[in-house]
Amino acid sequence: MEQLWTGFLLLSLLPMMSCVADAGRPYFLRPRTLGEFSTLNREKSFLQSSQYEYETKYFTQRLDHFSFKNHKNSTFQQRYLINDKYWLGAERMGPIFYYCGNEGYIDWFAVNTGFMWDIAPQFGALLVFPEHRYYGESMPYGSQSMAYKDGDSLSYLTAEQALADFATLIVDLKKNLSAEACPVVLFGGSYGGMLAAWMRLKYPHIAIGALASSAPILQFEDIVPSDTFYNLVSNDFKRESENCFKVIQQSWKALETYGERDEGLQNLSKKFRMCRDLNSTDEIEDWLNSAYSNLAMVDYPYPASFLMPLPAYPIKEVCKVIDSFSNGTDVLDRIFAGVSVYYNYTGEEKCFDVNDDPHGENGWNWQACTEMVMPMSSNPESSIFPQFTFDIESYTKNCLNMFGVEPRPHWITTEFGGQDIKRVLKNYGSNIIFSNGLLDPWSGGGVLQNISNSIVALVTELGAHHLDLRAATENDPLWLVEQRNAEMKIINKWMNEYYQDKGIYTFEI
Ligand SMILES: *[C@@H]1O[C@H](CO)[C@@H](O)[C@H](O)[C@H]1NC(C)=O
Ligand SMILES: *[C@@H]1O[C@H](CO)[C@@H](O)[C@H](O)[C@H]1NC(C)=O
Ligand SMILES: *[C@@H]1O[C@H](CO)[C@@H](O)[C@H](O)[C@H]1NC(C)=O
Ligand SMILES: *[C@@H]1O[C@H](CO)[C@@H](O)[C@H](O)[C@H]1NC(C)=O
Ligand SMILES: *[C@@H]1O[C@H](CO)[C@@H](O)[C@H](O)[C@H]1NC(C)=O
Ligand SMILES: *[C@@H]1O[C@H](CO)[C@@H](O)[C@H](O)[C@H]1NC(C)=O
Ligand SMILES: *[C@@H]1O[C@H](CO)[C@@H](O)[C@H](O)[C@H]1NC(C)=O
Repeated sequence: MEQLWTGFLLLSLLPMMSCVADAGRPYFLRPRTLGEFSTLNREKSFLQSSQYEYETKYFTQRLDHFSFKNHKNSTFQQRYLINDKYWLGAERMGPIFYYCGNEGYIDWFAVNTGFMWDIAPQFGALLVFPEHRYYGESMPYGSQSMAYKDGDSLSYLTAEQALADFATLIVDLKKNLSAEACPVVLFGGSYGGMLAAWMRLKYPHIAIGALASSAPILQFEDIVPSDTFYNLVSNDFKRESENCFKVIQQSWKALETYGERDEGLQNLSKKFRMCRDLNSTDEIEDWLNSAYSNLAMVDYPYPASFLMPLPAYPIKEVCKVIDSFSNGTDVLDRIFAGVSVYYNYTGEEKCFDVNDDPHGENGWNWQACTEMVMPMSSNPESSIFPQFTFDIESYTKNCLNMFGVEPRPHWITTEFGGQDIKRVLKNYGSNIIFSNGLLDPWSGGGVLQNISNSIVALVTELGAHHLDLRAATENDPLWLVEQRNAEMKIINKWMNEYYQDKGIYTFEI
């Protein structure tokens, strides 16, 4: 079975190429918030974030919201995190800031969504972070191995079920807190941002508005050209250095040639300091591809360790390294040194593991093989990646092999819309912020234009993947501070309108 690239937190379910020789071999990219970070890195980022305190709770959730038949194991424990330190309380109608959990551990998302924590005191908000079903600890059937057993056990892993979980949980929580009248504001990044936007549209009676950060809700069907994502990754490299762009472009051919020689794979494994011998050049191609795509997502303006510990504007650093070699140097040595900035910035890695999956993100492959079909191609003219053309037939074949399911590439737009979004949402939607940074390759599938007075696009030229949701730092550039201020003002406006409709006092942040 082929290996899927499970890196998209945000978002990666898209079949992608990864191989010069067999360009038809797809793997999946997802809009990522989760990445190839090791368990060690994850623990480190937790330590840094120990200022975020919350209580961990579990809620008995229905496995299937859309049928009434009572069957065995028809519930599971959904984890959620809650902090009421800043909350004004139910009597004063304090708002509830509700994060739509995406494909991974909710505690990891919670500590990487510093924006909510930063602004909760000013708003007097209750913070609640529900985990997405089939991720983290929120496993149906008692364990991950049972939940991920096969297509039958996975069949309740859908965005619709997850949204119904979020709706059910918040309704029950509000009842328990006698907080039925408290306004709920949704937050989400990447796939979580898609969920936040969709939830606002599907459950307008439950939440007054949504901040959907880096949410590629238009990355479906043919709404945006299929080479958008890889072109944007490539542009991020090109804008740093034309030479760097070219070296990476050339490296795939070099890799292929090298791998085909006797002992080539063995030597390649040594060259790239792999922990075990590579089984094929595909493996190293996926590994490189993940690095480039993830770098584009986390090209943040200050040092950060979201997917990996990295310097400010890490693509600039990668290209500096690649460009520092003389032109006579082996192209593979150059790119190895370059991606080491991504995989080994701390200098602590003893060797590299190509299929490190510390998060059990396989759930995303299932989602990619069912609803989340995001067509992706790579055009070799404009891309650092080898040519790859999206082909639904091979995509389907792959999914049948893996899970015995056929993808439904038109379901998401049928269920949530996306085509002609401007006209549609202008008429029936309201109170959504779509925020995007144009360095983020997922921004190409995002909403980048204002749709109405209350469905607005906040776009930053130099922002990356849901940068605005991160905690404020001393190094924030002015444009980022302004973006967050604009978001706060808009959220405040939603709340005031809600309170006024209720005939209550207004609220100034
Ligand atoms: C139901 O879940 C329990 C664990 O919670 C497991 O032991 C049992 O095998 C499951 N039953 C079925 C029919 O899947
Ligand atoms: C609400 O309270 C009931 C009874 O204590 C509890 O079972 C349920 O889990 C609570 N709901 C939430 C969302 O915590
Ligand atoms: C592989 O490496 C060995 C020693 O490190 C070298 O002798 C041999 O020529 C290399 N083979 C190829 C195909 O590069
Ligand atoms: C690669 O080969 C090793 C044996 O050399 C095997 O144990 C492993 O499962 C293979 N990995 C993949 C991803 O095929
Ligand atoms: C390498 O070649 C590129 C163009 O092919 C050129 O722009 C660059 O300056 C050269 N670098 C060195 C170090 O000679
Ligand atoms: C990681 O970086 C350190 C410091 O530069 C180096 O000693 C080590 O060999 C690198 N690890 C790998 C796997 O390349
Ligand atoms: C959308 O409108 C807001 C003002 O409401 C403005 O700040 C923003 O720049 C507009 N976005 C775009 C992409 O034009």
